[in-house]
Amino acid sequence: MNKCKISGRPLNKIFDFGKQPLGNGFITKKNFINEYFFKMVVGFCNESKMFQLYFQPSPNKMFHKNYAFYSSTSKHMKIHFRNFFKTLIKHKALKSKDAFIVEIGSNDGIMLKNFASKNYKHLGIEPSANVAKIAKNNQINTRISFFNNETSNFILNNYGKANLIYAANVICHIPNIKNLFANIKKILKNEGIFVFEDPYLGDVIKKTSYDQIYDEHVYLFSIHSIKYLASLYNLELFDAKHQTTHGGSMRYYICHSGNYKPLKSIQKYLSHEKKLGLDNFKKLKKFKINIDKSKFELVALLKKLKKKGKIVAGYAATSKSTTILNLCNINSELISYISDTTKDKQNKYSPGMHIPIKNYDYFKNNYPDYAVLFAWNHQKEIFKKEKDFIKKGGKWIIFVPKVKIV
Ligand code: SAH
Ligand code: TMP
Repeated sequence: MNKCKISGRPLNKIFDFGKQPLGNGFITKKNFINEYFFKMVVGFCNESKMFQLYFQPSPNKMFHKNYAFYSSTSKHMKIHFRNFFKTLIKHKALKSKDAFIVEIGSNDGIMLKNFASKNYKHLGIEPSANVAKIAKNNQINTRISFFNNETSNFILNNYGKANLIYAANVICHIPNIKNLFANIKKILKNEGIFVFEDPYLGDVIKKTSYDQIYDEHVYLFSIHSIKYLASLYNLELFDAKHQTTHGGSMRYYICHSGNYKPLKSIQKYLSHEKKLGLDNFKKLKKFKINIDKSKFELVALLKKLKKKGKIVAGYAATSKSTTILNLCNINSELISYISDTTKDKQNKYSPGMHIPIKNYDYFKNNYPDYAVLFAWNHQKEIFKKEKDFIKKGGKWIIFVPKVKIV
């Protein structure tokens, strides 16, 4: 249980979050009594350099026909994927006319719709049936399944090997990542590329954005850990690019070893990570001190506002907010409600702390004195949209990189 999922060596404990519910486990009142909790602890392996959960709930508990996260709710992410699509199709690996693209965790088709609209041969692998159905209804070829041995064989038998395997915000969700890399090796064409992006450990450490840690995020990757992992399968990390999405992500480019020349970016990031201490358990221990401080400051601020009789609401019921609310023990006494645009979350309660989730109109009609910005990774988009809230005297509370009122 406390062994590195890559190297098998014992993990060094970094932080114990205690009992946590599922990040996306929005719940109705009648289910409060059988709500699921698990012990959430994160640790680091000095050999593989992988930052990881000790234990995670079974994937079937998290990804199913009622999965609450719909990628296309964010305009900003739609643009992000569209722009990257335009870059990707210029890559050497996609030059051939019959190029075949596989996407792992394709959700509602936010990325694949770009390929589909240009008639690329494509296949999305998506286990959460509700979101996959949206993609299917939009003529995006999608298989409702986890990416695993069976799916990989299905791909080989029905489509052949892939020119591009793409994945965003999903590889870090997959506990058996060694099996995933073995399957990538198997289904990637000789000149093919495997490109994926996930929240970056470097940003989490720099900004103390500990809310990136929840059940679905089994790993927080770095250049060090991905380089190590790829090399176990005779694959090679040949390029990487930092992204501003999801509060700071890294995009990794992987090929069969020796097929593309490693770019200077890799060496540059490795040195950067050494400076940040991402390869060193002793330095990473500082993260614990920073989390404790952030927690203390947020709770103190909310208690002070309550004492003054101020109304505080949450803005966006993100999965990330589940970690914060449960670690800090913040319930509806401190935050009256959380508004969110996702229908499946509305009229339910936040996981663990049971704060009511309201729709967006409720926020518009019941402006609080303060709104805690849980979707801080969409800050630009939201601040632009919510000028009226500020005009009417509302204030934002942010907690990344520091707790403050803005
Ligand atoms: N790529 C999208 C969705 C990210 S959410 C985006 O960046 O917005 C993660 C998605 O991966 C969910 O839709 C989830 O159902 C899916 N997923 C989780 N485990 C998976 C697995 N083992 N194989 C394929 N998809 C998986
Ligand atoms: P994410 O941070 O994982 O992308 O989740 C975003 C959540 O925030 C999702 O539930 C939708 C919600 N949201 C809003 O309620 N309003 C907004 O303006 C945005 C951008 C997101």
